Amino acid sequence: NQIFVLNGPNLNLLGTREPAIYGSTTLADIAAQLEVRAAELGLAVDVRQSNHEGTLVDWIHEAQAIGARAVLLNAGAYTHTSVALLDAIKAVTVPVIEVHLSNPHTREEFRHVSFVGRAARGTIAGFGARSYVLALEAAAAL
Ligand code: DQA
Repeated sequence: NQIFVLNGPNLNLLGTREPAIYGSTTLADIAAQLEVRAAELGLAVDVRQSNHEGTLVDWIHEAQAIGARAVLLNAGAYTHTSVALLDAIKAVTVPVIEVHLSNPHTREEFRHVSFVGRAARGTIAGFGARSYVLALEAAAAL
């Protein structure tokens, strides 16, 4: 009943990073909210963050290897660039749910493409920190 919550580049700076776009909630706050909701749903979350693309690839493989129930993935800017993450998602059977705080479709053109979204089970974007809780609820219902 393990859910991996993987966060990509610059998400360690949540809280102070462009708060007008991403809000003032920190990643630690999000992790705490997810732990509460996960406990209610009978799940356990493992919340991680890396600024390195290959580390995110390794963690997707690890989720598969340990038999995680789902992966919530906010790949940050790698969402829009990473064929390696797309291939990693395609290489595993564990469902990956794409998560974003902002709604990339309302932003710059280069954020309208998502490599992650091409293989994700689904996407939740635009609800700030709540996007993660909504994605966790979606994962619980899979
Ligand atoms: C983001 C959206 C991406 O376009 C951006 O590069 C991020 C954060 C979000 O959660 O809204 O780093 O994934």
